[in-house]
Amino acid sequence: MIIAVDGPTASGKGTIARALAAHFGLPVLDTGLLYRAVGYQTQLNHGDPDNAADALEACDFPASLLDDPALRYESTGSLASRVSVHAEVRRALLQRQVDFANQPGGAVLDGRDIGTVIAPHADAKLFVTATPEERARRRHAEMLERGVEVSYEAVLADVHARDARDTGRADAPLLRAEDALLLDNSDMGVDEAIAAAIAFVSEKVRRP
Ligand code: DC
Repeated sequence: MIIAVDGPTASGKGTIARALAAHFGLPVLDTGLLYRAVGYQTQLNHGDPDNAADALEACDFPASLLDDPALRYESTGSLASRVSVHAEVRRALLQRQVDFANQPGGAVLDGRDIGTVIAPHADAKLFVTATPEERARRRHAEMLERGVEVSYEAVLADVHARDARDTGRADAPLLRAEDALLLDNSDMGVDEAIAAAIAFVSEKVRRP
């Protein structure tokens, strides 16, 4: 069973993907982490994330980088969004995602193009979203809790910039697959959103 979870930044798709993986006993891959590693490695190389050749070179990042806490920084998310525009980078990261999706026993993947490009044959697809204001509010609260001093307006501007770049790129843009469930959790709590996701997938694959 393959479950594809896509959606914009700070939509809660990672939380939902992990909950689905735990519920159905499947391995989960946060594909954004791969793009974050490439973005961060580009910076370590003193390269330009907007330059395709520099970003492609960074696709050779060491596996240990995936455990680096710096990948979780907001600034790394922006770098990831910038390197992910390059078709060369997307191609370099394609096979490991496809292999993960098609491993025996199944998998859950979350990202931007799982239901459209990586696993168009997925058994269940979800497009998780919330309004930009609500996503910025959640991200802002999360950052303040971690002690990062930032204004709500700055976070909202970043959410809009990320959305525009991820949706507007030519290669594998953020897009709801036609057969994906639209899960707008703007007015839902985390537990409610998870329950809705589990109910949808259970119905889709007829498994409790
Ligand atoms: O999900 P995230 O915020 O960690 O992703 C960071 C960036 O990586 C996102 O802004 C766009 C890019 N990305 C992508 O292009 N395709 C994916 N499947 C996952 C992430």
